[in-house]
Amino acid sequence: MFDGKHIACIGAGYVGGPTMAMIADKCPGRTVTVVDINAARIAAWQSDALPFYEPGLREVVDRTLNRNLFFSTDIAKAIREADVIFVSVNTPTKTFGQGAGCAADLQYWERTAREIIQYADSDKIVVEKSTLPVRSAAAMKRVLMSNEKGLHFEVLSNPEFLAEGTAIRDLEKPDRVLIGSDETPSGLAARKVVVDIYAEWVPRERILTTNVWSSELSKVAANAFLAQRISSINALTALCETTGADITEVAHAIGLDTRIGPKFLKAGIGFGGSCFRKDILNLVYMCESCGLKEEADYWRTVVTMNLHQQARFVRNMLSRMFGTIAGKRIALLGFAFKADTSDTRDTPALTVARLLVEEHAELVVTDPFALPNARKDLADLGEAVAFTEDPMAALDGADAAVVMTDWTVYSQLDWARVFAKMRKPAFVFDGRNCLNHNKLYEIGFQVFAIGKAPLSHLDR
Ligand code: UDX
Ligand code: UDX
Repeated sequence: MFDGKHIACIGAGYVGGPTMAMIADKCPGRTVTVVDINAARIAAWQSDALPFYEPGLREVVDRTLNRNLFFSTDIAKAIREADVIFVSVNTPTKTFGQGAGCAADLQYWERTAREIIQYADSDKIVVEKSTLPVRSAAAMKRVLMSNEKGLHFEVLSNPEFLAEGTAIRDLEKPDRVLIGSDETPSGLAARKVVVDIYAEWVPRERILTTNVWSSELSKVAANAFLAQRISSINALTALCETTGADITEVAHAIGLDTRIGPKFLKAGIGFGGSCFRKDILNLVYMCESCGLKEEADYWRTVVTMNLHQQARFVRNMLSRMFGTIAGKRIALLGFAFKADTSDTRDTPALTVARLLVEEHAELVVTDPFALPNARKDLADLGEAVAFTEDPMAALDGADAAVVMTDWTVYSQLDWARVFAKMRKPAFVFDGRNCLNHNKLYEIGFQVFAIGKAPLSHLDR
């Protein structure tokens, strides 16, 4: 019935854009059309300046754009022509009504389903790419099947596991591709169509098929587990700072246990990004909706710990800088939620920046790629924040250098020159543990890292 040769994707964001570019690259026999309500974003995909920075993305888009990858605002045409429609619109945390601050806001998803009904004139496979609460596919199927044209829709779940900064590698060589469908004859047939798309480049044993609810929950669960590891390692950092244990050594020692493994044990100011907090809160809400209070409380602490880590970081700065940072020049090195991305959604730097401005600090923010987003995120703070792309200029006359993002450019700075430019005593607060702390201490800095004993000349 379907051959999967004509693919559409609704939502040209961080997930939809790169994923579809990879499908187009690996499947030259299929056409892929990505549509979005945001005309500026579509124009950016067709231009020299892609909507965001992602290593390797430019090359993939260059190989495929207008060959078999198309970006368009004509949603109706894309829906009509496709037999497989991926939906990758955003599902942010609800800000209103029941479940505000916790539940996923499904209004864009449902609106998209209704658009599909409006424009479709043949049966379709609709694939959830967006992260959604468990049983969303069933709800969407009900909406889609309410169409009065007699059309049949299969709704599948195919969650995305790509991480920003490594999206292209993650898409090219995924740990696994997960495809959930109804286990009915038509659900299984649709599953095969989507499996065949990925099988063009992903080894078959890495393509997992499950029922649709397992697939939906696995996505949220994977993010919850990853975030939980970060909160768990961060929950040991204050203890390290007071006892003299070193969190890097502890993480290394426990990570060598093959049952634990070494990844996602890097302590710091906490996790950011568009997914972790949103997905855990979504999980919390699902548990609460099922009357599972203890389970909800358990997962909620992962987020509480993350916020605590950021507040603790600023409290530590305040106490180390003699109880006041009012009027002091503080250079925030990095604003992106992690290195190799221009994305600042939910970045810990935003929380830290706001807490510092509450203390009347004079902030200077620098970042190699995220400054346009940083400017928007901090626009309401007016004169209290300055921006510069040049880290040396940000550090000129600063009282403290505060690392928020682990860009390699910061570990490669000429720190002796930085020291000469800064006001004394010169402080370094390394929120990502990415600098050479002993070397900085030897230069003369007061060095405070996460989960490590302070290196301060003032304490002697
Ligand atoms: C995606 C998923 O959608 C989200 O559920 C998941 O948790 C993370 O990845 P992402 O690609 O990062 O989100 O979001 P974003 O960059 O905001 O892209 C979503 C796009 O959908 C936007 O460009 C927006 O304009 C578009 N959109 C939204 C539509 O085209 N139609 C709508 O009705 C709503
Ligand atoms: C995450 C998931 O990794 C990905 O599979 C999912 O599809 C989307 O959410 P992403 O948010 O892009 O991806 O980045 P990730 O690399 O997971 O980092 C998230 C945050 O955790 C960053 O702020 C990062 O700095 C932080 N982090 C990560 C740590 O603090 N310590 C670590 O050990 C790892």
